[in-house]
Formats: sequence, C-alpha cells, structure tokens
Amino acid sequence: MNENVERVMLTSGQIAERVKALAAQLDKLYEGRHPVVVCILKGSVMFFADLIREMKTPMQIDFMAVSSYGKGSISSGKLQVKKDLTVNISGKDVLIVEDIIDSGRTLSYLMEILKKRNPADMRLCTLLDKPDRRVVENVKVDYCGFQIPDEFVVGYGLDYAQKYRNLPYIGVVELSDT
Ligand code: IMP
Ligand code: MG
Repeated sequence: MNENVERVMLTSGQIAERVKALAAQLDKLYEGRHPVVVCILKGSVMFFADLIREMKTPMQIDFMAVSSYGKGSISSGKLQVKKDLTVNISGKDVLIVEDIIDSGRTLSYLMEILKKRNPADMRLCTLLDKPDRRVVENVKVDYCGFQIPDEFVVGYGLDYAQKYRNLPYIGVVELSDT
C-alpha cells in the first residue's frame, strides 16, 4: 500500500465487479442507440476506460476537462473549461462519465453548458458520490458506482494535488491542507 494512504476503501476487485454491473445496466439503457460517452478528465480516466470496455453498445467517445479555480480539496464554485468536446452533441444521446460528485458544482456547471448544445438525451454516471457534501441540488445522478461517506479519497484516477492517480484501488488519505 502507498505510504500516505491510511486505508483502502474499495479494492480493485470490488471496483471491477461494480463497473461490470454498471456497464450491463448502461447497455440495456442504450440498446439500439449510439451514445457519445464523455470522459471528464483527468479523474475519470480509469473508470471510463474500464466502463467502456465492459460495454457492448456501439458508441463514440470524447473528452472534456473542467477545472476549479480553487486549490486543495475544496472546489471554489468558479469553473473553467480547459478542454472542450470535439464531437457535436446536438441531437445525440450523451453519457457523462465522472469520477466523483462532491458539492455538485462541477457537474452542475458542465451540464448547463452541454444542455445548451441540445443533446437528445443526457445522463450522468459517476463512480463515486458523496451525497452528504452536496451543495447544488440540481445534479441528478442516473448511475452511481458507490455512495461514500465524507472522506477524501484517492486512486483509480482520483488525485490529491495531482498525486495517487495511478493507484489501482481507492484509498483514504490524510489531508495536509484541511
Ligand atoms: P464538486 O464540484 O464539489 O462536485 O467536485 C468534484 C470534483 O472535486 C471531482 O471531480 C474531483 O476532482 C474533486 N474531488 C471531490 N472529492 C474528492 C475526493 O474525495 N478525492 C479526490 N478528488 C475529489
Ligand atoms: Mg474530477
């Protein structure tokens, strides 16, 4: 285990099993359709790669990066699009794949931007959800891997100060800035 990780919350086996189940649900939802599956960089890169490999639905994939102006572990609410989609999503079924929903600000902002582009349908699939931390109420989570308590987690794409993203499991770290 990494020296700064206090404890493992979700093992790679637990994650893989849940990802398979989510992929099966999503295949059902998108039967006969051809969605654009959007990876929100960087945090959802592992979840996205594993999820789409488990899905049988024909799809297009695309990437988007949004970042908070805030530093450390608390998002400021001010967001900036760092990398936009290249696919035109007008009239398309869009599935947003996110790593974690905390306050909900990131997703609320992102979905507001994407809705203006008139997709036929837009769904949200997140690996992790911290419902106790929600500040913005208008974020509807359609699919969620795991609901977790209010603890800061890293690994499987998630970072703390850009570190730990490559851990194959999700663990809890001791924060130095809170
Ligand atoms: P929100 O805008 O407050 O919902 O924050 C969402 C973003 O904050 C996520 O995409 C992550 O980048 C980051 N975040 C929130 N909680 C955690 C955590 O426990 N570990 C790592 N990143 C987190
Ligand atoms: Mg993120």
